[in-house]
Amino acid sequence: MEPVHVAIIYYSATGTIHTLAQAAVEGAEKAGAVVRLRKVAETAPPEAVGVRPEWERHLQDTAGVAEAGHDDLEWADAVLFGTPTRFGNPASQLRAFIDTTGPLWFQGRLADKVYSAFTASNTAHGGQESTLLALANTFYHWGGIIVPPGYTDPVQFRSGNPYGTSHVVGDGPPGEVALQAARHQARRVVDTAAALKARRAA
Ligand SMILES: Cc1cc2nc3c(=O)[nH]c(=O)nc-3n(C[C@H](O)[C@H](O)[C@H](O)COP(=O)(O)O)c2cc1C
Repeated sequence: MEPVHVAIIYYSATGTIHTLAQAAVEGAEKAGAVVRLRKVAETAPPEAVGVRPEWERHLQDTAGVAEAGHDDLEWADAVLFGTPTRFGNPASQLRAFIDTTGPLWFQGRLADKVYSAFTASNTAHGGQESTLLALANTFYHWGGIIVPPGYTDPVQFRSGNPYGTSHVVGDGPPGEVALQAARHQARRVVDTAAALKARRAA
């Protein structure tokens, strides 16, 4: 059978979500998937980016990462979305990309794929679940199959978020627990998508 296609589409201002996305790439590839890592376009004006050197630096460091397009969504059997929490919601940069997908949605081309999401926030109660649940609203509209990590691996009892891998930036950069959780989430997404793909091919 053709391997599962996974698109990992993310926004990251200062690198945290980018780090989790890379761990998700590792998990998905280890599970046998072909993976496309894609960032969404930066929509903030240069004067906003410029006042935060770490934002500007991350933008430069990831200049070589391809930008997400509709073809990535169409190609994918499964999509993992990554976004920082912004006032308890997904970042507007990711929403801007999602809000261009109307024509695909209208043709039913986003339906029946596996979707899952991961996030980060500055504080433990800063809105991780509300961000992931808000993204899931879109997956419902697309007719997606939402695959959360739940507590399906021992790492979930340590990382603690059944809705999707989440990191508290105030504790420092993502450590091994968060990275393992991202790898596990990606593996679970691939396993589910592989089962669906095999069934559909039969
Ligand atoms: C405009 C804005 C809103 C934010 N809102 C929240 C929030 O509601 N809760 C929280 O804990 N952190 C909040 N943060 C912190 C970000 O979630 C945090 O910087 C981000 O997860 C880091 O991810 P990144 O390094 O990939 O950009 C906010 C940051 C910005 C710039």
